[in-house]
Amino acid sequence: MGRKLLLEHINVPGIETFDVYRKHGGYSAVEKALKTMSPEDVVEEVKKSGLRGRGGAGFPTGLKWSFIAKPEGVERHLLCNADESEPGTFKDRYLMQYIPHLLIEGMIVSSYALGANLSYIYIRGEYMFVLDILEKAIAEAYEKGFLGKNILGSGYDLDLRVTPGAGAYICGEETALIESLEGKRGNPRIKPPFPAVKGLWGRPTVVNNVESIATVVPIINMGADEYGKIGTEQSHGTKLISACGNLERPGVYEIELGMTVEEFIYGDDWCRGIKNGKKLKALIPGGSSVPILPHYLITKTAKGEVRNMSYESLSDGGFATGSMLGSGGFIAFDEDQCIVRNTWNFARFYAHESCGQCSPCREGTGWMDKVLHRLEHGKGTLRDIDMLEKVNKRIEGNTICPLGDAAAWPVAAAIRHFREEFEWHVSNPEEAQKHNFGLSREVTFS
Ligand SMILES: Cc1cc2nc3c(=O)[nH]c(=O)nc-3n(C[C@H](O)[C@H](O)[C@H](O)COP(=O)(O)O)c2cc1C
Repeated sequence: MGRKLLLEHINVPGIETFDVYRKHGGYSAVEKALKTMSPEDVVEEVKKSGLRGRGGAGFPTGLKWSFIAKPEGVERHLLCNADESEPGTFKDRYLMQYIPHLLIEGMIVSSYALGANLSYIYIRGEYMFVLDILEKAIAEAYEKGFLGKNILGSGYDLDLRVTPGAGAYICGEETALIESLEGKRGNPRIKPPFPAVKGLWGRPTVVNNVESIATVVPIINMGADEYGKIGTEQSHGTKLISACGNLERPGVYEIELGMTVEEFIYGDDWCRGIKNGKKLKALIPGGSSVPILPHYLITKTAKGEVRNMSYESLSDGGFATGSMLGSGGFIAFDEDQCIVRNTWNFARFYAHESCGQCSPCREGTGWMDKVLHRLEHGKGTLRDIDMLEKVNKRIEGNTICPLGDAAAWPVAAAIRHFREEFEWHVSNPEEAQKHNFGLSREVTFS
């Protein structure tokens, strides 16, 4: 099964309460950090662990922390990104809903490392019930002396607040999140300055994903060296994967980075294969923004090496034949699913969620939505497929934030790997219309 560092106690009855969490070793990382380590020691430990941000980009967490500016007399902030709106991604919700104190403990240790005395959890607006769970857990932590003034007599003070968004995907982008938290429309900011220098209310700020912050707890408890032994050379530790699509056993899993993709899809302890005994046609391994992989590139790379669940292996081959681990939103497609329809569905999402600030994204995502709608509904032409590729190139790299790239990459990858399926929709318009409900032509498997 592999080691569980985050979800080890997830099935313990009452683990969402302070007392049960504490009985199972909870808050020992706070005790260790505040009583025996300096903030710099904690930053060094996280750096040494090799933890990479779990929000999608995989940027090293300790390194990001070391960039925070420390001007005399200016407050600093840690913001937890719990916006989780990437289609296919629901692992942060799971963690916050079932073991909220793990995130709170991670927030205390991480805020201490950064010298922050007021930190926030910015939570997706649709997760109102999780906000209630977090608020209850935060109130318990205050009551038990783990939040507020002079935590455990260490002289360190921390206030922690939870703020809901209003249901906008763009507010997961870190600078849009900051704008939203400041009470403004969630438009991404131009960088530099980066949040580490000028973030919330112009103050040095770090934004980290829920899972990144929660992972600081086992790192401090077990030590960076032990943590670093799990995983591969470039992907240390464990990772939460939210597995969905047509799998026998979808759900949230904690994996040791480096396990094979094949084992994760077909293993008895994991997803147990494709639903109803069907064949696997394609896979999106890291949320809707990352390139789709066709069946012949899922368990093996283009070089014929075994593909495993790690940053380096999933991206092997670049975008030509690889993808990304991203947020861990693992979406499986069976042989009957229509790639054109799915691509259109995602394009519609991005067109809806573009904030409209940059014209290549505002106009481009709208175009992609319209053209893909035409193709899926049997009204497209071969020129439309070429046009999609052109629109794509005009969006990619030409926007303030990566939402534009996130919209362009999946379309580019779908055409790259499934061009004949797009062309089939053009040459079989009536069939394509009949297949509006997700059924596709037969696929041949090598
Ligand atoms: C459009 C868009 C949406 C994003 N949504 C999220 C999100 O919901 N959660 C998240 O952690 N990161 C999200 N990110 C990435 C954040 O900007 C940021 O990189 C991340 O929170 C950093 O955390 P990490 O270093 O711990 O991974 C998003 C980025 C973009 C461009």
